This record gives sequence, structure tokens and C-alpha cells, in this order.
Amino acid sequence: MSWTFELGYAMEENIGPGGLAEADIAQVEEAVAKSLKNLETGRESGEPFFLKLPYDREPAERCASWAATARERFDNFVLLGIGGSALGPRAIMDALRHPFHNLVDNAQRGGMRLFVCDNVDPTQLSGILDVVDLERTVFNVVSKSGGTAETAAPFMIIHKMLEERFGPDGLKERIVLTTDPEKGELRRASQQEGFKAFDIPPLVGGRYSVLTPVGLLPAAALGLNPVELLEGAAWADEKFRTEDVRDNPAALLATISYIFHVRKNRNILVMMPYHNGLLTLAEWFQQLWAESLGKQYDLDGGEIFAGSTPVRALGATDQHSQLQLYMEGPPDKLVVFLRVDDPGPDVTIPDAYSDREVLSYLGGHTLGELIRAEQEASAAALAKAGRPNITISLDKLDARALGAMFFLFEIATVIAGDLYRVNPFDQPGVEMGKRLTYGMMGWKGFERQSTVPKKPWRLRQE
Ligand code: PA5
Repeated sequence: MSWTFELGYAMEENIGPGGLAEADIAQVEEAVAKSLKNLETGRESGEPFFLKLPYDREPAERCASWAATARERFDNFVLLGIGGSALGPRAIMDALRHPFHNLVDNAQRGGMRLFVCDNVDPTQLSGILDVVDLERTVFNVVSKSGGTAETAAPFMIIHKMLEERFGPDGLKERIVLTTDPEKGELRRASQQEGFKAFDIPPLVGGRYSVLTPVGLLPAAALGLNPVELLEGAAWADEKFRTEDVRDNPAALLATISYIFHVRKNRNILVMMPYHNGLLTLAEWFQQLWAESLGKQYDLDGGEIFAGSTPVRALGATDQHSQLQLYMEGPPDKLVVFLRVDDPGPDVTIPDAYSDREVLSYLGGHTLGELIRAEQEASAAALAKAGRPNITISLDKLDARALGAMFFLFEIATVIAGDLYRVNPFDQPGVEMGKRLTYGMMGWKGFERQSTVPKKPWRLRQE
């Protein structure tokens, strides 16, 4: 396995005065080295605990063994969860399975179909229920806290539906929980109603949980070997142990993003894979970066309003949508391209229309060559316009490579948290909205509060 980080188009020698100078890196080098030291200590002490996940293979083996049996009984795996409890599984399916996995027939699919219900938009749940045969469907309810409304509500709906249709034993067979080993309503449900449950280690928060059964169980259900995700993360972790920033990909990613944001006013971080299967990884990253670093207060309680805004885009598709803005709009972005060098089975463009220059040059090339050329061209064009960008390429995309990417982004986020001096593991900003919702839905103790602004302004037309 290998990966490559092309950083040249971030540097001032190549893109002009808006780029990075060695001196910029030198200014934060000490802080990065300190962060890397903390991580090294954390690997020993288990704080943050997610650092230990690549090295404990037992949960992955348990997930694989559950899935081997379940796959004989069920064709559909429906995951109910949100945020960190849903994005990882979606990223795994999209990166590692057939682009139309759920449409591939049973014999060829190599695993269960996966449907993720990660919203309380009623069309999503009813849409899933329209297309799955309940008899052949297992529901994985995923919630670290066990009390998230967006997961609890569909769980209650499915629970009732399954109980009415299949009775208590049929219900028990069709629900599997992934939650805290001791606390929360899901754990209580597992203890009282006998549902099979997988553990999310207590000290691992939602967005850092993809390498726990949150991601490992759906991976196994999809017919993948979840141990390989951990192997890839462990491979990557070795690369993150050097204290030399310039040789440490996670430190580089954090440092470059931080400097461009704080020192060069580039407050938008665009993650742009040139691979359809990696778009959901960019979505997973978006949540990780946004929720971890978007903080009002620093570690000393000073007001700071930290965090750059992560945006996802897809190459080459968004060359016809976003790229114009990235090239000529406000100089407020750093673009991170993701690429896969070996795209797998490729498709050759036939030698046709040889008399038409505008088409004939494509003949004989492959789609893989074309998408790669487009990525290189976009990176170079942005650089020529003085727009910084970096490219991360994987030699190929498999479970190990994906595990490595998950870990890269997690470690980079923690290092960036240290640079901003914020806590990357909490999310106090989402509490107010939750409390208002509870009040509106009638939870006693959370009084209903007015959500109408003092001076309403509404335009309604019929
Ligand atoms: O990263 C986080 O902590 C959040 O995005 C959670 O994953 C999300 O709020 C869901 O929480 P839970 O797993 O407790 O239902």
C-alpha cells in the first residue's frame, strides 16, 4: 500500500505570494511537535482512546463472525443512526463496493444491501421500507448516547412494526444495536429485551468511531473484511509517529490547513475527490472537521471562533459547477484533491470520429486516463491562478487504504485542534437546537420556548 502527498502547489515558489513559505511552517513547528508528542503519550495511555482502535482486532472479528451468519438469513442491513453513527458506514459502502451495490443481484453482491436512514425526513424511512422485504431485513440501530432523537424515533417505529409483524422472537432476531457498553437507552433495551449489541468504547466519540463496530459491523455486513480497515489505520499510524512535520502526512495536512486559514484568510477547505466512491469520505471528513474544530472558545475560555469551513466537491463533475468559483472567486479556499492512481477495471474510449479533431484526440485513451488528466489539469490551473492546493493520491482503493484515510483525517483533525487550541472532541454548539426541539416535542423539563424572532419577517405566496 502507498500514498503520495503532492504539496508543491501550496508553496509560494510555485503559486506566488499567496503560498506557503518555509517560515510559515517554522512558526508553528513547535506547536505541532508538542501535539505529536501528546499523541505519542496518548497511544500509551489511551487518551484519546480512538488511537488504540487500529490495534484491537477482536471487535472486528466479532463483527465478521456475526455477519457471516446473518448474511445467510438476511439480504438487507438497514442502519438507523446519524452524524458519526452513519457517515462512516456510508463512506465504507461507497468507497469499497459496487457503485450500485444495492442493485447488484444477490449472488454477485458478496454481502448484504446497506440502507442508511440518517434523517427524520419521513420520505427516507418510508422509502427504505418500500424497497426492502422485512422478512429478510436486519436493522442496526447505532447511537453512542442511545438517546439521539433522530435515531430513537425510527427505532421506535421499526420496533413496533417488527413486533406486530413477527412477534417478540422475530423482533429480537431482526434488531442489532451498536452503543455504549453500559449507558443509555439502547443498552437498556438490549439488557431488557435481549437484543444483540455491539460496543462503542465509552471514550470514543461519534465522529471518531468509524473503526469501532459503528463502521466495522456494516463493513462486515457488506461482505468486506473489517480487520483490513484496522490494518490500514495501523499502517497509517506508523507514518504519523515521526515528530518531523515535513515527513508526517497528518501533521502536514493539519499545519497547512491551519496556516492557510489563520495566516492567509483561506477559511474554506475544499475536499475534492476525483473518484465517485470517495465523495462520501469527503462528507465524513466534512463532519469530522466541522464539528471538531468549529468552536467559539479556546481551551482557556477565550473567544476565538475557530475552524475553517469544510466543503466537498467531486471531480470531474464539479469542474462544471464549482471550479469557476475556485479559480476566480474570492481567494478564500484551500483545495485538497483526492485521487486513486489505479482505478481498477478501466474503460477504453474507442477510436471514432477520426475526422473530427474535437473528438478524435480522446480515442484510444481510457476514462481513467481522462479523469487523472483532468485532476492534474485542475491542480495546475489553480496553481497558475495563485490558488493553493494539495493532492493526496492512493495507489489503489481498498479496505486498507480506506482505513488509512480515516485515520489520517482523524489524526490531522486532532493536531489542528491543538493548533487552534480547541477541544476537538466536544460539540457544545449543537446543544441549544436539541433543547429547543425537546421543548417543541413536549419533553417535560424542556419548556417550550418561542422560536419566532422578535421582529418576524415572512414572505408567503400562493
Ligand atoms: O460526532 C458526534 O459526536 C456526533 O455527530 C454524533 O455522532 C451524533 O450526534 C450521533 O450521536 P449518537 O451516536 O450518540 O446518536
